[in-house]
Amino acid sequence: MPHSSRPSDLLQPEAFLPRHLGPDAAEQRAMLDALGVASRAELIEQTVPPAIRLDGPLALPPALDEQAALARLRGYAEQNECWTSLIGMGYYATHTPPVILRNVLENPGWYTAYTPYQPEISQGRLEALLNFQQLTCDLTGLDLAGASLLDEATAAAEAMAMARRVAKSASQRFFVDENCHPQTISVLQTRASGFGFELVIDAPEKLGEHEVFGALLQYPDSHGEIRDLRPLIAQLHAQQALACVASDLLALVLLTPPGELGADVVLGSAQRFGVPMGYGGPHAAFFATRDAFKRAMPGRLIGVSRDARGNVALRMALQTREQHIRREKANSNICTSQALLANMAGFYAVYHGPQGLRRIAGRVQRLTAILARVLEQGGIRRLNRQFFDTLTLEVGGAQQAILASAHDARINLRILGHGRVGLSLDETCSLDTVARLAQIFLGADHGFDLAGLADDAGLAGGIPAALARTSDFLSHPVFNSHHSETEMLRYLRQLEGRDLALNQAMIPLGSCTMKLNAVSEMLPVSWPQFASLHPFVPREQARGYRLLLDELEQWLCAITGFDAISLQPNSGAQGEYAGLLAIHQYHASRGEARRDVCLIPASAHGTNPASAQMAGMQVVVVDCDSQGNVDLADLKRKAAEAGERLSCLMITYPSTHGVYEEGIRKICAAVHAHGGQVYMDGANMNAQVGLTRPADIGADVAHLNLHKTFCIPHGGGGPGMGPIGVKAHLAPFLANHPVVELDGPLAQNTAVSAAPWGSASILPISWMYIAMMGPQLREATEVAILNANYLATRLAAAYPVLYSGRNGRVAHECILDLRPLKAASGISEEDVAKRLMDYGFHAPTMSFPVPGTLMVEPTESESKAELDRFVDAMLGIRAEIARIEAGEWPADDNPLKQAPHTLADVTSEWTRPYSLAEAVTPSTHTRAFKYWPAVNRIDNVYGDRHLFCACVPVEAYRE
Ligand SMILES: Cc1ncc(COP(=O)(O)O)c(C=O)c1O
Repeated sequence: MPHSSRPSDLLQPEAFLPRHLGPDAAEQRAMLDALGVASRAELIEQTVPPAIRLDGPLALPPALDEQAALARLRGYAEQNECWTSLIGMGYYATHTPPVILRNVLENPGWYTAYTPYQPEISQGRLEALLNFQQLTCDLTGLDLAGASLLDEATAAAEAMAMARRVAKSASQRFFVDENCHPQTISVLQTRASGFGFELVIDAPEKLGEHEVFGALLQYPDSHGEIRDLRPLIAQLHAQQALACVASDLLALVLLTPPGELGADVVLGSAQRFGVPMGYGGPHAAFFATRDAFKRAMPGRLIGVSRDARGNVALRMALQTREQHIRREKANSNICTSQALLANMAGFYAVYHGPQGLRRIAGRVQRLTAILARVLEQGGIRRLNRQFFDTLTLEVGGAQQAILASAHDARINLRILGHGRVGLSLDETCSLDTVARLAQIFLGADHGFDLAGLADDAGLAGGIPAALARTSDFLSHPVFNSHHSETEMLRYLRQLEGRDLALNQAMIPLGSCTMKLNAVSEMLPVSWPQFASLHPFVPREQARGYRLLLDELEQWLCAITGFDAISLQPNSGAQGEYAGLLAIHQYHASRGEARRDVCLIPASAHGTNPASAQMAGMQVVVVDCDSQGNVDLADLKRKAAEAGERLSCLMITYPSTHGVYEEGIRKICAAVHAHGGQVYMDGANMNAQVGLTRPADIGADVAHLNLHKTFCIPHGGGGPGMGPIGVKAHLAPFLANHPVVELDGPLAQNTAVSAAPWGSASILPISWMYIAMMGPQLREATEVAILNANYLATRLAAAYPVLYSGRNGRVAHECILDLRPLKAASGISEEDVAKRLMDYGFHAPTMSFPVPGTLMVEPTESESKAELDRFVDAMLGIRAEIARIEAGEWPADDNPLKQAPHTLADVTSEWTRPYSLAEAVTPSTHTRAFKYWPAVNRIDNVYGDRHLFCACVPVEAYRE
């Protein structure tokens, strides 16, 4: 480098782009040569239909480098104010144990992993999720718990839907205690309308007056009251209805579990188990029920099975209940959920153990009891008789003065009508918080001796003796072993080591876009100014968020061509649901509520039909032709048949077959011609950004998986964000919120998620990505297409590429057809997937959308070197299959059928017809850096037949 350069010459103005892209210029050149094209522009010319191509740069501000983007976002963060929020309503301040913060939330080994569909390389996460399930079972007093749902309100809606599936009552009415959190009631209203249920929202005493198929009660309720639910549950059971109870895990440490009171479903948020409030999310919801309802349960369930050696091995159980198999008959549309946050909550319980949790809950309760006594003696009437952490107070005309005094002390209280205020204490509160509150309510000269009260052994708690917990919980060794930081650190590292995440190898999952989640994108997530805000703080305390959200919405509009964005949905599937509701409301507003037919191509992801069914639509499947494209004639026929009942088409673009369908505009036009709307599933947006836009192609609404295209990490199965973009005519019909009214949607609209902006605290990730890429986002898309075509070309001779578009090119992913190989050799796509683990890779997407295939999506973030390593592994596997075909290895005893191989294989007597080295170190790379799958191939059938979904006694691992 010449010494004479000026400093400004040495600045790298596009600093982030080459960090985000895998291949550098030389690697790209080599790949283009392999494809026989002169430039990336020529490749795009050959690949993307001219009719849909965007003819200018994206209208985004110029890219900022990493430091500049962080500085700008820091400026926004500083405009958020971190007050003490005692608003409650399902969100509470909590201390994230630093060992969990650094080693889980901020650790790519945990946050970049994929959903554990390949369980042999996900045993760590699966164990963590099993801990979460055990925690849920123990605290709720029920037999069976799932591995997290999107949020408490969604979990309540899922409980209502499940109640209708299993209750013997013929009623179409569902009762909701009016003292449930308002956001829960709002989401229930949304869901009930889709299903055609009538909601009865009333005081619990009125339950007996209604015939219902189920009810949602809350324990303790939103205002802190703790009712003995037994009489209400008995009334429900007498009419063959289900009793669903929303509850709070910390309260359940001290309260009789609802399961012991007879509840059929218990649900709630696990947020206060160490997960920051994050201005609304992400957090995991828990959901527990009776064993009898296991097949009707929504969401994921982790179960214990065994591997080929008979050792304990974990996997996702009963997957045949899920949307990817049962489609419109699925139990829910939950796909991406909140795995990372469920893991954190489970670890919080592991770290604190039952004693620690008793101490934390006991302290919260004791502080609340001291405050309750002071306020009572100070003459303030409390409206809830019993309490755990929440007090609802009648302050009458003093309300304004109290709120002003709380404001001066930077404390947020819950503001209720009729001169009432509420407050909820949490684990971050102290006697000092109580002292500040006493001053706020009673004045500085209140004269109470708080320290004396704190020492008063006779001070009454708020929990009635009949509802005090007597049963033990968390007695499993895992909750009683890792209480020192050293032990915890090693436990976390042990689990992490069992999993394969993006920090070890590419995860080439078609339709999932497992790209770089850059650290600079992740850093702001744990800044307190983003992490610590309660979602219902007054807007003036969240000015920084407002700037970020507004800007992100504008940028997403520029990228998609839409007029408005809703940031509320917490996953792609939730976005689908929100979008379909907007379409339905739009039709209804024009007097066309009868439009209820939703056309869905056969190749669609299972969440599409599941969401349509939840939105009350009737699914009509449209055929695909031999090239994997939507059969336009069939589409036109079915649109015409639906006629005035046509609501919409749901279509993925580029298609799930990995090609840009040439006829997309005609497809959209055919639907519009019959008065229908076009919903675009944006899962494959990584092939569109900067090259084309959903709104320009003809979509009226689309969801964007920020956890795919826009760099939010997959978290081992969530979190995610599935905002939707809409054209102006649909904008009034976007979800609103009952507590924080949003600008834009009609005021009467209800919510799809508990929080107004969904999982707001992970939105800085996508903001950072777009800020650092600007109009260069297009380059990312082009390189994603280059990488996919390079892989397709290099692999085509060994594994035929099933579908291709114009000029034989694929989009950003490709489907490898393994069916001919299976016919010839008996080796299935699953065998190849498991064998890839021996080579140190996560398998591509298996058997979606076509059974017997693998769908490969490399993304733009993988270098040519990594792509070549993957190609070498795939070609190595093809050579192994050739040896099986040649009869060199038996069809049932070869490295593929026996894959994956583990240390247990190495240490056992070796009698196989192939060598140990061939088994465990099949490539140069594995000889240098070996990843060991923790278990041998898992027996799926055994796991489902002997369903066991809780922590295994330690002895079982020794057997
Ligand atoms: C094509 C497609 N649509 C929808 C979804 C659902 O998105 P989410 O998992 O965020 O709910 C997926 C998920 O992988 C998908 O691949």
